[in-house]
Amino acid sequence: MRIYAVSDLHADFRENRRLLERISAGEHRGDALIVAGDVADALPLVTDVLGGLRERFAELFFVPGNHELWVRGEPRDSVEKFHAVLAACAGVGVRTAPARVGGAWVVPLFSWYDAAFDVLGEGDHESLEAWSDRYFCRWPPGPPPDRRFLDLNERHLRRYDAPVVSFSHFVPRTELLPPVRWLRFKGLPLVAGSVDIDAQVRRLGAAVHVYGHTHIPDDRVLDGVRYVQNHLRASGSSDGGLLKQVWTDDPTVGGAGPLFC
Ligand SMILES: [Fe+2]
Ligand SMILES: [Fe+2]
Repeated sequence: MRIYAVSDLHADFRENRRLLERISAGEHRGDALIVAGDVADALPLVTDVLGGLRERFAELFFVPGNHELWVRGEPRDSVEKFHAVLAACAGVGVRTAPARVGGAWVVPLFSWYDAAFDVLGEGDHESLEAWSDRYFCRWPPGPPPDRRFLDLNERHLRRYDAPVVSFSHFVPRTELLPPVRWLRFKGLPLVAGSVDIDAQVRRLGAAVHVYGHTHIPDDRVLDGVRYVQNHLRASGSSDGGLLKQVWTDDPTVGGAGPLFC
């Protein structure tokens, strides 16, 4: 089986919905697709987009990003919305828990960001005044969101009987962020990720980890794990420029394993 990845569909924008229409309706019936968060904030649109993609793939995996957990104008809080998103995914056959697809396991990791990710202390707190999550997410009393979501993953953290492709919405390693001087949004290190995600990636012994959120494409190996971001944009590497293949079982394509392209 081939496994493809994309993130940050942001289907609220018509041009992004048009891009998604370019994904073949027939070419991927034997493939799996990972969607690493940020489809939209309105749940009906999330369900509609994921359900439409589901019909084109043998398996579809998803984790909520920050946009799915916006609750502007809603009485529920972001944790209630999170569980509503998972239920909606189950209703359209979209997986949010580990499953084996061919010769590999795909393991979704729920996550949030932690300001301690800014290990260099370069993040600009003032620029977070315009950060929408501050206004559109609402958290119930209890653990902070990064801890709350990572704790949900614990039951799935074990060694699997085949190579693992894991994925999260948020960034698992600080090396995957460019220097702050290159960033337009100087607050990004404060709201980008958590090193505790990578601790879970390591406990899984993952071969490949897909992430999203920063809209900065990447594909590199760090300490033996391949980290890939392929956010939706018109200039990707395959499928009309949208999807990135991150795994193949096909021994004729350089042997089973992560496909580097
Ligand atoms: Fe995004
Ligand atoms: Fe995001």
